[in-house]
Amino acid sequence: MSVEFGRSIRPRWLLDPDVVFLNNGSFGATPIEVLQVQRQWQERFEREPVEFVGRHLHRELRAAAEVMAQFLGARGEDVVFVENATTGVNAVLRSLVPLLQPGDQVLTTSHVYNAVRQAMRYIAALARAEYVEVPVPFPIASGDQVVEAVRAALTERTRFALFDHVTSPTGIVFPVEKLIMLCKERGILVMIDGAHAPGMIPLTLSALGADWYTGNFHKWLFAPKGCAFLWTAPEYQTITHPVVISHGYGSGYIAEFDFTGTKDWSAYLSAPAGLEFFHQLGAERVYQYNRSLALYAQRVLAEAVGCPLPAPPEMIAYLAAVPLSPSHVRGWSAQQIHDWLFDERRIEVPVFTFGSDLLLRTASQVYNEPQEYQYLASVLCEWIARAD
Ligand SMILES: Cc1ncc(COP(=O)(O)O)c(C=O)c1O
Repeated sequence: MSVEFGRSIRPRWLLDPDVVFLNNGSFGATPIEVLQVQRQWQERFEREPVEFVGRHLHRELRAAAEVMAQFLGARGEDVVFVENATTGVNAVLRSLVPLLQPGDQVLTTSHVYNAVRQAMRYIAALARAEYVEVPVPFPIASGDQVVEAVRAALTERTRFALFDHVTSPTGIVFPVEKLIMLCKERGILVMIDGAHAPGMIPLTLSALGADWYTGNFHKWLFAPKGCAFLWTAPEYQTITHPVVISHGYGSGYIAEFDFTGTKDWSAYLSAPAGLEFFHQLGAERVYQYNRSLALYAQRVLAEAVGCPLPAPPEMIAYLAAVPLSPSHVRGWSAQQIHDWLFDERRIEVPVFTFGSDLLLRTASQVYNEPQEYQYLASVLCEWIARAD
């Protein structure tokens, strides 16, 4: 019999029952049973740390990477664990510096995650390259708008492009296949930031055509915090190095990434337990439940704030962002609105700044249910009524 989603499954997480938690997107939420597996790994390490690292760690990491790679539609030898997508992006950007000439352009879009924007600006400055951010609108009518904006911005000097698979502030799915093709036709190196994608969008990385892909297992695939991966196309593995250089330098991609100094490897080793949890719930059921909940959230929230749907259904996966109009915002900052919703109404939902707009973005995970978005919508209506 299949597990019921929504309120009845929520006790399988430690989530505070007094909070309406609509932000799985920021850090994910790890089920208790996966945390128990993580604890077992930690205890195994602590029993005999020297033996564990010396004789078992490499094999165990590779076994976990193999399982996760299969899920990603990739070969195990192309996948390494990193702490988070930010680290995956930084590893690639730092590795890129020797390839860049002064005046080259590194390009992304205005939907980029801010930490990634900063990392791109940093390496552009190091290499005396130019950071280019292509404006892409939100609200948006179609994925083609993204492709056309990027196409118009590519130049002879564009050397590297990074695109989000699922954008952070706006929560939309980018047409990464088309964006990759656009760049590859011009000989431009491409990285996809798939921070949200594993568990949200089925992936076949070996056929996608990107040069690098990073994604989190801790957001939507139930893994413990600090569990992500970097996939690298075979031809770029020798030039791709971790942010932290350690013993393995020069000994190959796997050796370099699998040991970057002493740390707690338990989150990586528990990634297969997160995947197992996902499969036990039923991958197809999870994809469908979360997506229909996100479409529902988008509809009720757009109605509440009085705007048309800001993105078409084909660009929605598990996140739904709606713009807050300046007349409703009445000078409040994103943080103030977030804090009011949390402190006064016990709703955990992020509010982001996007250009000059404020966006409220919900997430939908299997422990959420429609009533929670109805409640948020009614609170927004109440908040707006105060402004009118
Ligand atoms: C598109 C995107 N990239 C990168 C990140 C960073 O993820 P992490 O904090 O796990 O590094 C996020 C986090 O929300 C994101 O949405």
